Amino acid sequence: MSDTILKVKNLTKFFPIMGGVIRHKIGEVKAVNNVSFNIKKGDIIGIVGESGCGKSTVARLILNLIKPTSGEVIFQSQNIFSLSKGEMRKIRKKMQMIFQDPYSAFDPRFTVFESLSEIFVIQKVENVNIKEEVFRLLKIVGLKPEHSDYYPYELSGGQKQRIVIARAIALNPELIILDEPTSSLDVSVQSQILNLLQDIQHKFNLTYLFISHNLSVVNYFCNEIMVMYLGKIVERASCEDLFQQPFHPYTKALISSIFVPDPDKRLTIAPLEGDVPSPINLPSGCVFHTRCKLASKICREKEPKATEITLNHYVACHHSLKNNKE
Ligand SMILES: Nc1ncnc2c1ncn2[C@@H]1O[C@H](COP(=O)(O)OP(=O)(O)O)[C@@H](O)[C@H]1O
Ligand SMILES: [Mg+2]
Repeated sequence: MSDTILKVKNLTKFFPIMGGVIRHKIGEVKAVNNVSFNIKKGDIIGIVGESGCGKSTVARLILNLIKPTSGEVIFQSQNIFSLSKGEMRKIRKKMQMIFQDPYSAFDPRFTVFESLSEIFVIQKVENVNIKEEVFRLLKIVGLKPEHSDYYPYELSGGQKQRIVIARAIALNPELIILDEPTSSLDVSVQSQILNLLQDIQHKFNLTYLFISHNLSVVNYFCNEIMVMYLGKIVERASCEDLFQQPFHPYTKALISSIFVPDPDKRLTIAPLEGDVPSPINLPSGCVFHTRCKLASKICREKEPKATEITLNHYVACHHSLKNNKE
C-alpha cells in the first residue's frame, strides 16, 4: 500500500555468544525471531512486553544501528540494509530515535546550542539560520532561548528529554522510534513529556513507533499495540480491541497486572509467574507455553502462526484460535 511508511519482514537477530579458549561461537541469544509488521504514515504504534523480550533490538535494527541475522526493513520503499553509507545518512534525517536515558544523550562539554546546531552541520544542511532554528526548536519543546546557553548538568531530566526531542525533530523526520522515552523520568514529569510528544505528532503529522514495558502508557499514547514476548509478536490489535477482547494469555496477564479502579472491569486472570525464559534456550513450540496455564500438547510441539482472528486483530496462540473457531 502506498501509505505504508515502514515494512518489517521476517526480521531476525541472533547475537552470537563467544567462548572457549580459541573464542568460537558457543551459542546464540535469540533476541528477535521472525518479526513482521507494517506501519502506515501517521500511525502511532506501540510495542509492549517485559524487559528482555527484544523491543530495543527491533528499534536498533530498524534504524540500521545493528545488522540483522536475516529479514528486511523497508523504509519508504528502500531496503535499508542494502543502502550505502551516504544513502543511509539521507535516510537518517527521516528516521529518528528517542532513547530512554536523556542523561547519556549529550556530551557534557557542549551547551544546548552546540548540541542542537551540530545536527545541521553533520547533515550538511544549507540555507538555514542555525541560531533561528535552534530557538524555534526550543520553543516547540517548551523551552526558552536562554536554555541554549545551558550545559547538560544545568538541566533537569525533563528538560534534557525536551532537548532530545528537539534534536529528533530538527530535520523534519517522518518516523520517530521512541524507546521507553519516559521510563527514566519522575512520574510527575512523565505525563508532561508524553503530552509534548503527542502535540508534536499532531503538529508535524509524524509516525511513531512507541516502545514501552508499561501497557498503561502504551494504551494512553498509541492507536495500535503489538505485544511482544521472547522475540516474537504474539498479538496485534487496536488499543480498544486489545483491552476489550484480548486473546493471548500473555496479553491477558499483562492487562490484569494493570490496576483498574472499577472492580467490575478488572480481568480476573492470575498474574504472570516466574521470569521470561532465557532467549538462549527458547522453549519449543509456542515460546509462552512454559508460563501458560492453558498450554497443551500442541503448544509444546508446534509454533503458532499469527492469524487474523477478528478484523485487524492478529494473534499467535493455538488455544485462542481453537476457541474462536468453535
Ligand atoms: N549486543 C548484544 N549482545 C548479546 N545479547 C544482547 C545484545 N543486545 C541485547 N541482547 C539480548 O537480547 C535480548 C533482548 O534485549 P532487548 O532488545 O534489549 O530487550 P528489551 O528492550 O525488550 O528489554 C536480551 O536477552 C538481551 O540480553
Ligand atoms: Mg529495551
